[in-house]
Amino acid sequence: MGYISEKVKKVTANAIMDMKRQGERISMLTSYDFTMAGIVDGAGVDCILVGDSASNVMQGNDTTVPITTDEMIVYARGVARAAHRAMVICDMPFGSYQVSEEEGVRNAVRMVKESGVDGLKLEGGSEIAQLVEHIVAAGIPVCGHLGLTPQSIHKFGTYAVRARETEEAEKLVADAHALQAAGCFAVVLEKIPAELADRVTRELRIPTIGIGAGPECDGQVLVLQDMLDMNIGFKPKFLRHYAHLHDDITAAVGAYVADVKARRFPSADEGY
Ligand code: KIV
Repeated sequence: MGYISEKVKKVTANAIMDMKRQGERISMLTSYDFTMAGIVDGAGVDCILVGDSASNVMQGNDTTVPITTDEMIVYARGVARAAHRAMVICDMPFGSYQVSEEEGVRNAVRMVKESGVDGLKLEGGSEIAQLVEHIVAAGIPVCGHLGLTPQSIHKFGTYAVRARETEEAEKLVADAHALQAAGCFAVVLEKIPAELADRVTRELRIPTIGIGAGPECDGQVLVLQDMLDMNIGFKPKFLRHYAHLHDDITAAVGAYVADVKARRFPSADEGY
């Protein structure tokens, strides 16, 4: 008797690009661990991003700057193991690709090899285009990231909306074209005016994935813990809450503590 296993078809970079051609919107969410990624994957998201927002969400840092390549690999490995359908892409952290192209390619290969993710995301425009070419030539799908690029927080000094002025907007459009020419399969647009995101989306063949970039992007991405309302007090204009887990978890933990204190947990039946 044969054993029949039904294999789920994995979303690939080509499939993500096809979705733009076919007018199908692309859904992306972050995850940083096996358990959450398994839920997100099972719920049908197209792409899971192991964002360097793990620096804030998982480690409590103020910025994404401190997280290391080794730490990103650990988070990414758990996510890659959980994702049977979704394409998993992982952020290359600050410092892993800024020093030299050779070091950037070496770190890119190492991240994919040691974590099992399906692609990488890098922040920056024309200044990283040649590096993107090399990473793509090594066989690794690359997603770009323009607009608010949190790894450059010390340069910007603020997390405010980017590219409101013509000069920065024109540079962003040129950067988007440079990333496309370098071989990126998609580009994240973070916190830029909706009109500019719409223009970039219409001009590019590759999909744009927006966060705070209006409704006309080819896809949308949110940080999972933010959309589940676990990060109390963080409610930028672009964020929509799809659950209220801070309150739900607080209530569940409170009920457990009360049951333990009152000797209601465990009952006689909840033992051996
Ligand atoms: O690190 C991250 O979570 C990201 C998204 C906000 C796009 O880069």
